[in-house]
Amino acid sequence: MDATSSVVLQGGTVVDRTGARRADVVVREGVVVAVGLEVPVPDGARVLDCGGCWVGPGLVDLHTHLRQPGREEAETIESGSRAAALGGYTTVVAMPNTTPPIDSAGVVREIVALAAKALCTVEVSGAITVGRAGERLAPMAELAGLGVRLFTDDGSGVQDGRLMRRALEYARPLGVLLAEHCEDEALAAGGVMHEGEWSSRMGVPGQPAEAEEVMVMRDIALARLTGARVHLQHLSTARSVGLVREAKAAGLRVTCEATPHHLTLTDEACRGFDTVFRVNPPLRPAADRDAVQAGLLDGTVDAVATDHAPHDQEAKEQPFDQAPPGMLGLETAMALTLGQLGLGDDPQTLFALLSWQPGAVLGLDAGAGLVAEGTTADLCAIDPGERWVVDPARLASRSRNTPYAGRELVGRVRHTLHQGEPVVLDQEAQR
Ligand code: DOR
Repeated sequence: MDATSSVVLQGGTVVDRTGARRADVVVREGVVVAVGLEVPVPDGARVLDCGGCWVGPGLVDLHTHLRQPGREEAETIESGSRAAALGGYTTVVAMPNTTPPIDSAGVVREIVALAAKALCTVEVSGAITVGRAGERLAPMAELAGLGVRLFTDDGSGVQDGRLMRRALEYARPLGVLLAEHCEDEALAAGGVMHEGEWSSRMGVPGQPAEAEEVMVMRDIALARLTGARVHLQHLSTARSVGLVREAKAAGLRVTCEATPHHLTLTDEACRGFDTVFRVNPPLRPAADRDAVQAGLLDGTVDAVATDHAPHDQEAKEQPFDQAPPGMLGLETAMALTLGQLGLGDDPQTLFALLSWQPGAVLGLDAGAGLVAEGTTADLCAIDPGERWVVDPARLASRSRNTPYAGRELVGRVRHTLHQGEPVVLDQEAQR
């Protein structure tokens, strides 16, 4: 359809930072032009039925692996952005562990060019260190000049504390955010799941929770030392969440995220050696899962971030200790968060965790969390009562590695508008 024509999201409950109310939303030329009850439908407008839906700002994922360039058999910017749109996302942050990694202006430009045709906005992240090798800083200023707002070596953490200090000192005047994959490689070495009861029973080498926690501690200390902001990625243990809670109470500039899988699954899931449950950081015991859940509800954890990590079938068909870590997330994150946190009557918390809080972490306009006249029409309509069963064959991702195959979820994205364009209508991607 013509992106400049009008669209009306009719009959839903509009949810934003200011509250929830019954209202229709009129969109024209990519912008919200009216929000209210009984607003006139412009001539020729496309009317989208939002009966029973929450209509809120599009979701924002701080942590998406799109695999392009280099691993197009697993995902492309096109397929990943389609999965994102189906999941209600209008912005995703593409992680830099591509091949080659995103550590130079050339790769940033390549991704920006590919992303122009994506079904959502793709924010390009940059590596902190050249080649993500942890030895010398990437040209952060040059990449920031191309619009990169977030830097991370995700897939690995920056092991050298001195280098991380320098990166933080450098990031501060550039106004960019450093994000850390918290994993002490020496402590984690050889571990392919969480070290605990289940790794012992299975006879599989584990990595202790402390491999994550020592880096959380170090980076909180470096935030104090440098005064720079630090964002801690995919936190998975109770003590990590506790450390961030204390750091925030002390006024440090620390934010963090947690994944839907650490919110819903435990290490026991690995008992059958199914590689779909292999992920980094690993799934943890129930007490950690519960602490992540509590952290999301009490404001310690700022955002649900998917860590959508597509891997092709062949890679995942290897033995447990050789298969690559990672699982899909974009198409299931919203329903899992809704269900696991019991947010059926609390759409504002759902959108806060999935939309405006991650938007604010990154300093995006989406951080304002408003559906109001004059805002960009990045919107999604969620039916909180819709039941569906996850069928890997029907996902838009090029990969199939979802740990939720066959699981019934409640809550589904009905429509997604990206900059006014209906990219998902009645649960179907439009291109
Ligand atoms: O499980 C993971 N997969 N954790 C990471 O940090 C990287 C990711 C990937 O790129 O596959």
